[in-house]
Amino acid sequence: MILAIETSCDDTCAAVLSSDGVIRSNIIASQAKLHDRYGGVVPEVASRQHLHLMNATVDTALRDAGKTLDGIELVAVTQGPGLIGALLVGISAAKSIAASKELPLTTVDHILGHIAASSLLDEPAETPFLCLIASGGHTIIAAVEDYSSYRTLGRTLDDAAGEAFDKGARLLGLPYPGGAELDILATKGDPEAFDFPVGMARPGVLDFSYSGLKTALVYKVRELGPEKTREKRADLAASYQEAICKQLIAKCKAAIELTGYETLAIGGGVAANSALRYKIQRLTEKLGVRMAVPPQQLCTDNAAMIAGAARFLDRVDYPQYLEFDAFAQNEAD
Ligand code: KG4
Ligand code: ZN
Repeated sequence: MILAIETSCDDTCAAVLSSDGVIRSNIIASQAKLHDRYGGVVPEVASRQHLHLMNATVDTALRDAGKTLDGIELVAVTQGPGLIGALLVGISAAKSIAASKELPLTTVDHILGHIAASSLLDEPAETPFLCLIASGGHTIIAAVEDYSSYRTLGRTLDDAAGEAFDKGARLLGLPYPGGAELDILATKGDPEAFDFPVGMARPGVLDFSYSGLKTALVYKVRELGPEKTREKRADLAASYQEAICKQLIAKCKAAIELTGYETLAIGGGVAANSALRYKIQRLTEKLGVRMAVPPQQLCTDNAAMIAGAARFLDRVDYPQYLEFDAFAQNEAD
């Protein structure tokens, strides 16, 4: 039985997972409302809120799973990448909880956690597979040979896909974090009403770029003016989303063709996007490859995916982990 904690950004998360991958509880205490007034995550506010919510979140995860700490055999925690202050709260809590019972600890890379969400499905993604991880901080296409590591084949050169969603949403007057709101608004609009640029269109290139698209929306909103922008909000949202998804899909297609891998998985908050999920389904059907699409609550940040990843990683015995630290960025970044 694994107790996992995830605090890399602005969600305080704790979960209990059995070693065979059954989710016993998965608690997400969202701070979104707190950060909305600032239009984005304020790192210091996030750290303090994690502190405030941590004990209650862990208690609730244990209670919902019908467990006490005595029933836990391993503690897992996100070590990075993410906001350093936020991560430190999680790692300190995990070390303290593990040390209090002299339990082993496993530290997990957040990206590997998003990948491991695909190990928690009724039909887990079988390795090797390709995984698109698109979130607020990352946009990566990765080759996953086994669940303990991944190889980055392509990454964003500027903004992450989720960042593009959030910035676009803000320009259209939607609250933070805007991705999910823009997704809903887009269902009422025409994805072909506006022709937004799809970045990095050169064939064979697996890297992503979203800063040009965001600038294009800034200019379009300026050109239309406040009234017309309001009137065309749904069309703007749908067309902007279409350009984001087109690039993600093009890179997935190119990666499948280049590597010959036969399974495509997705993860990260943007993988909760309804248009993207539909397009991934169509792409995999067309190319005749298998698809692994976790339910939306396992795409956005959660601790069940961290526990899922921990099953494939080394555990460190008490007390060796007491000096472990968090890291804000992967070495390759
Ligand atoms: O993985 P995640 O929860 O946190 C990070 O690791 O960053 O991803 C959060 C991102 C935010 O940018 C949010 O707007 C976006 O995922 N997101 C969505 C949707 N739900 C969350 N973007 C598009 N459509 C959605 N339905
Ligand atoms: Zn994430």
